[in-house]
Amino acid sequence: MKSNFITKITLCGLLLNGIYSHAQQTTLEVNTSKTITKIQPTMYGIFFEDINFAADGGLYAEMVKNRSFEFAMPFMGWSQPNSNTHSLNANSGIATPVRTSQNSNNPDFCRILINDDKGYHIINEGFRGMGIKKDAKYNLSLKAANHNNAIKKIILQLIDKDKKVLGETVITPSSTDWKDYSSQIIATATEAKAQLKITFEGTGTIDLDMISLFPEETWNNRKNGLRKDIVQLLYDLKPGFLRFPGGCIVEGRTLENRYQWKKTVGAVENRETMINRWNLEFKNRQVPDYFQSFGLGFFEYFQLSEDVGAEPLPILSCGMACQYNSGELVPINELDPYVQDALDLIEFANGAETTEWGKLRANMGHPKPFNLKYIGVGNEQWGPEYIERYKVFAAAIKSKYPNMIIVSGSGPSPDGAFFDYGMQELKKLNADIVDEHYYKNPEWFKENATRYDNYDRKGPKIFAGEYAAHPKGVEDGLKENNWLSALSESAFMTGLERNADVVHLTSYAPLMAHVDAFQWAPDMIWFDNLNSFGTANYYVQKLFSNNKGTDVLAITKDGKPLTGQNELYATAAKDVVKKELILKLVNTSGKAQDVTINLSENNVNAKGKLIILTNQNLEEYNTIAEPTKIIPTERDYKMSGKKSVLNLPAYSFTILKLKMK
Ligand code: AHR
Repeated sequence: MKSNFITKITLCGLLLNGIYSHAQQTTLEVNTSKTITKIQPTMYGIFFEDINFAADGGLYAEMVKNRSFEFAMPFMGWSQPNSNTHSLNANSGIATPVRTSQNSNNPDFCRILINDDKGYHIINEGFRGMGIKKDAKYNLSLKAANHNNAIKKIILQLIDKDKKVLGETVITPSSTDWKDYSSQIIATATEAKAQLKITFEGTGTIDLDMISLFPEETWNNRKNGLRKDIVQLLYDLKPGFLRFPGGCIVEGRTLENRYQWKKTVGAVENRETMINRWNLEFKNRQVPDYFQSFGLGFFEYFQLSEDVGAEPLPILSCGMACQYNSGELVPINELDPYVQDALDLIEFANGAETTEWGKLRANMGHPKPFNLKYIGVGNEQWGPEYIERYKVFAAAIKSKYPNMIIVSGSGPSPDGAFFDYGMQELKKLNADIVDEHYYKNPEWFKENATRYDNYDRKGPKIFAGEYAAHPKGVEDGLKENNWLSALSESAFMTGLERNADVVHLTSYAPLMAHVDAFQWAPDMIWFDNLNSFGTANYYVQKLFSNNKGTDVLAITKDGKPLTGQNELYATAAKDVVKKELILKLVNTSGKAQDVTINLSENNVNAKGKLIILTNQNLEEYNTIAEPTKIIPTERDYKMSGKKSVLNLPAYSFTILKLKMK
């Protein structure tokens, strides 16, 4: 990768702080007064999908895996080390999965017979362990039915790999019927791979279900809520929208396996667990223990959108399973329930408390509407089958909710026959916004900084809904989030912003990955059970989003936008609210370059600020141990009049901000 860049360097074009004379000059003319187009508040958003353990084991702070014994193998994640599960004469106890017909959403529970309470225990391994912090509090809850009141105590302990106890609590099961119990454990040490051990006092039988452990400290301190550190990273992005729940997870490998929002709302214990579609998707990264508890369901996604100040953007199944998998179709004359799901979702989000679904939202703790404005029909679908189904959805949604903005899809690639067909048909149908996806190499991203320059201004608006630069030949998780990928994305993003009249929403994908349990890389945020951090790509997104401005201005070299001349890219904006001029400049060459900024008017204060994201090694990347190798730095900058020279370091993304008079 690096050599590619180096061979491209044209030495005659370099000026290094005056050391090299006769350098190629880049003079950029900035028209500071004429607005070319408005930038939508939604311009930079978040794409969330439960891939890479992003929900269960990630954002959703539950620490017990398979808490309700609903995985396909009911004891997956659990062990009973000193029991012989295959013998009636188990030496000290035995756990048996029981499947009742009394609760169709949560039918399985665990029945434990304790013959000898001196040794028998069960252990939950967590999501590749449980991250606990010294002195932090952990809220434990479970359901139990104590047959004959035989069991006197349930002892719950956090343990490390050597079985050392790192905090414990005791529950006294007081009822023969199912009853909820709760307690708290305070951790006595910090441990990334703790487990939950459960022992018993007394002999006899007890039934257990919904064994759950959450940190007390969550985002907004919501009980059984979301991981505070991860939401903080999202919040800091100041995202314009939050797209959920994906991605291919919307479609399912089969229709049966599609995401059904109605099954993800209401009481958590009644949300039916389902296999995660990424479970066995990739041969080389299989995760048989990947399921969806839906503890993070549609209510929580709406709430999260509100928390981080983002417009909610739900995407729904359009009656087509993933075309890379089964490609199952719902016949058009059987599409009604799918369409109804979309209409009901709008009612759930926006309806009055007197409506069926608005009432559920209110009962879940949010009487006020979520003010939903966008809804997505299908994810990465293609072909006439999609267009046919889109038409049915669009007609039904628009007739009941004429102002709802519908996001449609153009398939998995940003070009080719499927894309061309989809775009052409969606244009004919006057679609509102079309979602485009591109996972391409860094060269593609640089070359496509002009992608939207010639888009039809009368056609649908664009949602660059999933994109990421995938460095060639690097297939190693975190290493794929190298500086080369992030830098090329920043070059590309200048093109998104310059075309803000067409491009209304953009989001990097996927959003998150657990370092021990990912299926797909690169990803914007990585985490383990204790820590999370932003990649270089995260900081590119954050800088664009936090400094987007409200109006696009012209920034040109020889009358043309800067889209790779001298390996430089630029966009200019002003923020009419904050009264700021914002220039974004990307230097993808391996040498520092001086550019002369020539403002059309002397209407800025001389004192400004430079924000610089750079690294001299294109293969560098942030890690859990070293999360700040590539982070933005800030320094003062002084304009000399309306014409000033700015040095752009090699391999850098620079933002210059000046207060406007
Ligand atoms: O972001 C990962 C996957 O890439 C998404 O689920 C899908 O839409 C795309 O193919």
